[in-house]
Amino acid sequence: MKFSFPVLSAAEAAAMIDHGQTVGFSGFTPAGAPKAIPLAIAARAEAEHAAGRDFQIGVLTGASTGPSLDGALAKAGAVSFRTPYQSDPNLRARINAGETRFFDMHLSLMPQAVRYGFLGPVHYAVVEASDVTAGGGIVLTSSVGAAPTFCRMAGKILVELNHRHPPTLLGMHDIYEPADPPHRREIPIYSSSDRIGSPVIKVDPARIAGIVETDLDDEVKGFAGQTPVTERIGENVAEFLAAEVRSGRIPGGFLPLQSGVGDVSNAVLGALGRHPSIPAFEMYTEVLQDSVINLIKSERVKFASTCSLTVSREALNDVYANLEWFRPRILMRPQEISNHPEVIRRIGIISINTAIEIDIFGNVNSTHIMGRQMMNGIGGSGDFTRNAYLSIFICPSTAKGGKISPIVPLVSHMDHSEHSVQIVATEYGIADLRGKAPYERATEIISKCAHPDFRDELWGYLEMVEGGHTPQTLTAAFRMHEQFLKTGDMRGVCWQEAVAPALS
Ligand code: COA
Repeated sequence: MKFSFPVLSAAEAAAMIDHGQTVGFSGFTPAGAPKAIPLAIAARAEAEHAAGRDFQIGVLTGASTGPSLDGALAKAGAVSFRTPYQSDPNLRARINAGETRFFDMHLSLMPQAVRYGFLGPVHYAVVEASDVTAGGGIVLTSSVGAAPTFCRMAGKILVELNHRHPPTLLGMHDIYEPADPPHRREIPIYSSSDRIGSPVIKVDPARIAGIVETDLDDEVKGFAGQTPVTERIGENVAEFLAAEVRSGRIPGGFLPLQSGVGDVSNAVLGALGRHPSIPAFEMYTEVLQDSVINLIKSERVKFASTCSLTVSREALNDVYANLEWFRPRILMRPQEISNHPEVIRRIGIISINTAIEIDIFGNVNSTHIMGRQMMNGIGGSGDFTRNAYLSIFICPSTAKGGKISPIVPLVSHMDHSEHSVQIVATEYGIADLRGKAPYERATEIISKCAHPDFRDELWGYLEMVEGGHTPQTLTAAFRMHEQFLKTGDMRGVCWQEAVAPALS
């Protein structure tokens, strides 16, 4: 064995972590997240609870993780605090029941928040690796996330050496941490493929408390695939971007794309890649999903800078089997760099993210259902939207079988304001909000993006009052939401009833 660190069982590693401590786990989405140690921590929590003792930890990660981490720990009631993002149904239920404190934060800010001490001490870093050198060089697996910062800040480091990922991944990561103010300099990335750091996380070997060997697949779930609605949204976005190139507002060689998480984004990216008028492009993004691997293979995507390879087992096996071909085409970076506002604005990224709700004035809700229930979190959508060359939000024009309009008078929770959102797209069309006053934005969104079943209703809201810069009616703004909560259907709202009490 080439390393001299203690080799532990997962249970032995878990036994080192005490109730009340904070653990920073590698992983950005289920890609690259540890599996054996968190499962063992969950088992330990269950045993402690059965013995009548408290056992909960604070969980920091890059973004969401998989069922063996968030899922198992949440089921065991082992998570007291969680940040910055999650998408596990068990954890979500705990958060929405008020049992786990969740801090929803911009992913680019997570590592520096840890370095600044804003989130308290990190007692352990638990990091999945494809290789560890005797000198303390950790080669990560299918993501980078916040692992470099966790390794730097944690008291001790536990490594899950996962043999499912080849040591030849060395060179697929570009590890770079900016200095903290007042010593920070510019991030020297001038195009998507620039390398600025080290291929490994370098740590003092004395801080590695032990190594747990595993042979486990990433827990990335499959994608739903194209539907006629997502296909149409993709075509609308592609046609819009092609027209922007023709008009000269996007340079002819195109600009790097960022594309968000989820089924809708995955499908839209596939449609963009197929569009004959969109030239081959680069990606500077935080998550690569299956559609991008296919686009790289067909040379429609020339280079992809990412924070994680959030792809199916088949797609990951394909990348690993052809690693030398993919090596010059994919680079994984820490989330602080993949989502860095400075780089996003410098290289001119076109951002495409999915909304839960968009209001007629252009404010976007990415996180909450009916103002109250947390879905996943803001993720990187704010990092990219606020700093993009062109910011696009997409969503289907209805949800829940046509009973919900994601286009509403006022979003029930706001993540991205009208000041950052430029383009809205549904399967019905594109609303271009650039340079438009609130009333003009509303007419653009209702006429081009709303579902026909809801257009009259939204026009009724807009025309209810005259005057004011933003024609908002506070007494009626959430009437569509209120009706859905009472009847299970947003259709057919009576605005006169909504405003009558205020007028009388
Ligand atoms: N009201 C109520 N429910 C709604 C809704 C609305 N306005 N809009 C969507 N939903 C529900 C859907 O019905 C679906 O529910 P289900 O899981 O019970 O089927 C769920 O929300 C997810 O919607 P879906 O259409 O499947 O979209 P998705 O998988 O593409 O995910 C987001 C959409 C917004 C949840 C997801 O993109 C996200 O978490 N975004 C925030 C983070 C982000 O943007 N990161 C970007 C950088 S990677």
